[in-house]
Amino acid sequence: MDALQINGGTPLRGEVTVGGAKNACLPIFAATLLTEEACIIENVPSLSDIHFMAKILQHLGAEVSQIKPNTWEIKAKNIISRAPYDLVRKMRASICLLGPLVARLRHAEVSLPGGCIIGQRPIDLHLKGLTKLGCDIEIKKGYINIDAKSLHGNSVFLGGRHGSTVTGTANIVMAATLTPGDTRIDFAACEPEIEDLCKMLSSMGAQIEGIGTHSLRIQGVDRLHGCTHRVIGDRIEAGTFIAAGLLGNNNIKIRGADPHHLMAFLHQLEEADIKIDSDNNIHVQGHPGSLKPKEIITLPFPGFATDLQAQITTLLAITPGLSIITERIYPNRFMHVPELERMGAQISIEGSSAIINGVKKLYGAPVMASDLRASAALVLAGLAAEGETIVQRIYHLDRGYEDIDRKLQNLGASVQRLSADQIPLELAS
Ligand code: EPZ
Repeated sequence: MDALQINGGTPLRGEVTVGGAKNACLPIFAATLLTEEACIIENVPSLSDIHFMAKILQHLGAEVSQIKPNTWEIKAKNIISRAPYDLVRKMRASICLLGPLVARLRHAEVSLPGGCIIGQRPIDLHLKGLTKLGCDIEIKKGYINIDAKSLHGNSVFLGGRHGSTVTGTANIVMAATLTPGDTRIDFAACEPEIEDLCKMLSSMGAQIEGIGTHSLRIQGVDRLHGCTHRVIGDRIEAGTFIAAGLLGNNNIKIRGADPHHLMAFLHQLEEADIKIDSDNNIHVQGHPGSLKPKEIITLPFPGFATDLQAQITTLLAITPGLSIITERIYPNRFMHVPELERMGAQISIEGSSAIINGVKKLYGAPVMASDLRASAALVLAGLAAEGETIVQRIYHLDRGYEDIDRKLQNLGASVQRLSADQIPLELAS
């Protein structure tokens, strides 16, 4: 398993372009199952999760090919309805296959997704929504078996204890596009990734109103046609680099994302030297000591994104004063905290809140990545820390960040990717 070796404190200078949004691309790949015609998807990031979704689509019978470095062609002419456990368990987002399979084949057998280190990941809202559309659902031997011969439009409410559901909204929207009649979804997720999916579906001939809002209305059609769609930039990758820029005396420009997808994050950083230019590039000038302690609560979009919680925790760990971050989406999403404490951070967890007593400096140490965004937080901490940090198990990072070591090196960071045999013996796990 690879690791990243980081020597902190080198100033970051220059430009970085973020890739396409992983969390838009995954449901968009699933949506190609809705038509037998070819779909061309552009600005696709080269990530292990994306390659894995491509593998699942191929298993289902789709012709999948990468026609350019970040452009894929997917043609799901003859497909089967069963997505097996040994594939689905490796990536939760496979649950997005339910909607398209139900819509296209009127049948689906998808393994229940496995557990997840960031906390409970139920799918009750997905199943409730599909039942409302007329699906007969049976959970048997770890599989979700769906018979959908009598699909019909209906009113669906997707609000749960923690707000709406992003992939749940994706599933119901995709199912509804080919469901006879009108479907109304209230408390739909309105994350930019869902908006992007809906725009792609519309370009395939789907009839969707209210795109980008919490209320969607879908008029079912008989069939959808192929499309060419460019995936939006990854707001979470952009937010991660904004945090990197604020860690020290840095001066970086971030291209490729829409800053309007980051307003809650940028609002929390309004005292920082961050400027948006006329091309939507984000200019970040770091001035150590300029940030103020904060009180943050993670919420569904347009609230503060839970996927940026770990990254801003690192930033606040070196911001003098007392900050508090409360997780309203995944109450246990604090796997990065014990590792940050190994680097000198002073953070205590009280229920679903992290109370952060900002320190002057972090110190490099060997740390262990546990999930995608926690890994990003540890890389940020390594960039800020005095001395050497080795972040192990960075396969977590490769799921959601394309070539992050090369991008950071290009900005001047002292970051090296170590293969398993290069990791110091005392650390080899
Ligand atoms: C998506 O996950 C993202 N993944 C996650 O990003 C992101 O953290 C999450 O949305 C929240 O923004 C993808 O888009 C592939 P949810 P998803 O269903 O759709 C509860 C990353 O790091 N819930 O919106 O699985 C659930 O427990 C990943 O890129 C139910 O109660 O999340 C959670 O508390 C991590 N019942 C909340 O809703 C359900 O049926 C939000 O979950 C579904 C969800």
